Amino acid sequence: MKLTLRIWRQRSSGDKGGLVDYRVEVSPDASFLEMLDVLNERLAGAGEEPIAFDHDCREGICGACSLVIDGAPHGPEQATTTCQLHMRKFSDGDTITVEPWRAKAFPVIKDLMVDRSAFDRIIQAGGYITAPAGTAPEAHSIPVPKPDADFAFQAAECIGCGACVAACPNGSAMLFTAAKVTHLGLLPQGQPERYSRVVDMVEAHDESGFGGCTNTGECTLACPKEIPQDVIGRLNHDFLRAARKPR
Ligand code: SF4
Ligand code: FES
Repeated sequence: MKLTLRIWRQRSSGDKGGLVDYRVEVSPDASFLEMLDVLNERLAGAGEEPIAFDHDCREGICGACSLVIDGAPHGPEQATTTCQLHMRKFSDGDTITVEPWRAKAFPVIKDLMVDRSAFDRIIQAGGYITAPAGTAPEAHSIPVPKPDADFAFQAAECIGCGACVAACPNGSAMLFTAAKVTHLGLLPQGQPERYSRVVDMVEAHDESGFGGCTNTGECTLACPKEIPQDVIGRLNHDFLRAARKPR
């Protein structure tokens, strides 16, 4: 396949940045990131600066990859991470635009890499349980109703990639925050901090510069793990109950 890539290049967070065109030739079986590897090898060989982009597992589980491809976070295929996207989804001769996540709370570090430490701050505010360490208890000693276990498991599939933020017209991270609140708030081990957690995580969300949720639903459409908007309903429910509880 012969393709034209229009890639966002930006030397540093203070640089203005802009789109630069590159031509590449790649197999339809290559992944999107392998295609960038091919281009980077060529750039490095020619003594040019390779394109900076985030990646790690390349298996759709770590949440590191983060590209806006032709205007869509993680590209045109639904329920897929950038690393799991293959070039056969495109056509020979295509021009593909590649940009970083765009959100006030995710400033660009370089080229296609953004700073997602705001997500760490939300997790540090309450995305954990407090439990005595020691020998793991017998798995069935705390029964969990099946619907709760299933929904908690679904929410726990969030890989923290940030596509929901990049897709949201408000730059909101409510789907991410709500996935964590739902995952822990549904399980018995998450009950002691259930109400302080939701308040603290929403506070950290707002302080980090994410916008508010207005239920546009773009987040779920862009989410590679198809986290449903129901988690935001659960967050709102717990948040309102927390407001009536003494802290
Ligand atoms: S909710 Fe989905 S899109 Fe948002 S961070 Fe989690 S996995 Fe990524
Ligand atoms: S590189 Fe880990 S999810 Fe894409």
